Amino acid sequence: MVFGFGKPHFLGIDFGTASIKAVELSVEDGHPVLTNYGQISLSDLEKGTPAQGRSYDEEIVLHLQALIERMKPKSRAAYVAMPAFIGLISLVEFPVMEESELEEAVRFEAHKYIPSSLDDVALSWEVIERRGAPGGEEKMEVLLVAALNKEVARYERYINKAGLTVDFLELETFSLARSIVGEEPGLSLMIDIGSRATNLVLIENGLVRVSRNLDIGGRDITRTLAESLSITQERSKVLKKSGKDFLTNPQSALVFPVLQMIAGEATRILASYQAKHSGVQCKNIILSGGTAQFTGLVKYYTDIFKLPVVLGNSWRNIKYDPRLAKKIQESGTSFSIAAGLALRGTETVLKKKENLFPVSKKKFSLKELFTRKI
Ligand SMILES: Nc1ncnc2c1ncn2[C@@H]1O[C@H](COP(=O)(O)OP(=O)(O)OP(=O)(O)O)[C@@H](O)[C@H]1O
Ligand SMILES: [Mg+2]
Repeated sequence: MVFGFGKPHFLGIDFGTASIKAVELSVEDGHPVLTNYGQISLSDLEKGTPAQGRSYDEEIVLHLQALIERMKPKSRAAYVAMPAFIGLISLVEFPVMEESELEEAVRFEAHKYIPSSLDDVALSWEVIERRGAPGGEEKMEVLLVAALNKEVARYERYINKAGLTVDFLELETFSLARSIVGEEPGLSLMIDIGSRATNLVLIENGLVRVSRNLDIGGRDITRTLAESLSITQERSKVLKKSGKDFLTNPQSALVFPVLQMIAGEATRILASYQAKHSGVQCKNIILSGGTAQFTGLVKYYTDIFKLPVVLGNSWRNIKYDPRLAKKIQESGTSFSIAAGLALRGTETVLKKKENLFPVSKKKFSLKELFTRKI
């Protein structure tokens, strides 16, 4: 964020597998306004060994530096997301207790979910709700959020080496929820399908309830397409984005096991949540990530889920120059995470939210690491 002459600016940076994306927003007349955005492909890295004996981390820094050089953002302090697959988000039930007792109970419970020593983990939690159980006893639902300290340090290092500082850090799940669902009432299931990973997130009344990661994504679709049509991976990548419908057109439909696996997991998550929270209906399924643009996917999933399936729109609460409309439309849901991060920055102005991680802080404080409310 920059406070100097003029308006403050907020820079969100998303480290994806296929590309690094960045969105910069400012605030005008009480609204977030897009001032800058960009992405840099990591496709050369996705193929395997980085060039000239450089490490993966060095390559990421070089790519980030190139992106920042090109974008020339106004802010030098970044809002950063870590991939969901390096963290853990879990909704845990506890009997009602005092805040002071809860800390110990949470740390005890966290051991069951986190294989590493808790000293190596940034752990945070939030009481989401108190519910009366059918038997009468009241329960507290607590959202546990954790990531390895060494991963947190890794993302901080990337940012610092690119000449920026970290103003705020969270798991991408929260950025995504903020930009795509916001504070809308009801229950939605968001499915973000990237290149390597898929993130399934249940959000109820603006709060993340469940988050699951699958180690599958767009690159598996490329592989299936290449194998089914006996074509090269390169050709398959192009064909995948060509607009041809390989999902719902009977003449050209193929079977994509990863899309079936994602549907299976989504169905399980919904069923398990609804079994515990009777009477809660899922309003819709919202697709996000680059692979959400796969032609036919919305219809394909509508037929499977028998629920409204929509493409997420992370720009819906952001004003932008109408001349950018076409480009923004084409970018689809790719910038959801970067936009969600920058939106968190604008909230410090619009909703007077405290910045949980002020620039001046040298060390990450465990309690303050993650946003829990979007
Ligand atoms: N029009 C399209 N049709 C199908 N797939 C597409 C289309 N546009 C992009 N993709 C795919 O989307 C994927 C990239 O999505 P995204 O940018 O969300 O991934 P990422 O965030 O970099 O990766 P990850 O989240 O897995 O770390 C790539 O596999 C790409 O081929
Ligand atoms: Mg991603």
